[in-house]
Amino acid sequence: MSDSSLIIALSKGRILKETLPMLANAGIELLEDPDTSRKLIFDTSDPQVKLVIIRATDVPTYVEHGAADLGVAGKDVLMEHGCENLYEPLDLKIANCKLMTAAAVTAPASNSAGRSRVRVATKFVNIAKRWYASQGIQAEVIKLYGSMELAPLVGLADEIVDVVDTGNTLRANGLEPRELICHISSRLVVNKASMKLKHQKIRSLIDKLSQAV
Ligand code: ATP
Ligand code: PRP
Ligand code: MG
Repeated sequence: MSDSSLIIALSKGRILKETLPMLANAGIELLEDPDTSRKLIFDTSDPQVKLVIIRATDVPTYVEHGAADLGVAGKDVLMEHGCENLYEPLDLKIANCKLMTAAAVTAPASNSAGRSRVRVATKFVNIAKRWYASQGIQAEVIKLYGSMELAPLVGLADEIVDVVDTGNTLRANGLEPRELICHISSRLVVNKASMKLKHQKIRSLIDKLSQAV
């Protein structure tokens, strides 16, 4: 890989949709529509820049290992993965939401008297374990890969930890938001070695993206 070529990792869905206009502002445009293509690696209008399109939770892994130089990932994904092996130079302020606990509107508070262990279903196992421990609440955390909102409805869990935006998904399932764990937005992440070896190219991209924020 030459010193001036870059691979950027993005995930399909809201991150791709919201990042593409910012990249376009920085002179990087896709040459093909990823929604209709089965490709995973895409050329752009900048011959030195390629985009790879992967699962949201895989973005930190690709960037950490240098398979991609840069990526865009939600703070939720970064907190769950651990971000000590990555640089996080820019908050893109897209895909804004909140990481929250939620429960059935009829369920007691997780810290209510007489309650022993709270069963918590989530894809954010590490975040959930840390958060309940920090509240002094004993939690049994059950790993799921999606549709967490279903778990309390079928008795798999008492509570969930998930991202909430409008609250519509919770409401539609008879759940309500309980405690705010933190505010979430998506961040630009950079491989540590790439930041050194391709400093000029990456710095200039960060500057252009920060103007688009
Ligand atoms: P996958 O579909 O691969 O399981 P995902 O559901 O996490 O991944 P997206 O839904 O595209 O993928 O979410 C990407 C990021 O956008 C999340 O990590 C989170 O930071 C943020 N996000 C998720 N849901 C919402 C939402 N409803 N509103 C705003 N931002 C959201
Ligand atoms: C996300 C998240 C919640 C929902 C919250 O799902 O997992 O279910 O958004 O948003 P709301 O508060 O506005 O309802 P997403 O739309 O990403 O669908 P997914 O299940 O495919 O991840
Ligand atoms: Mg989603």
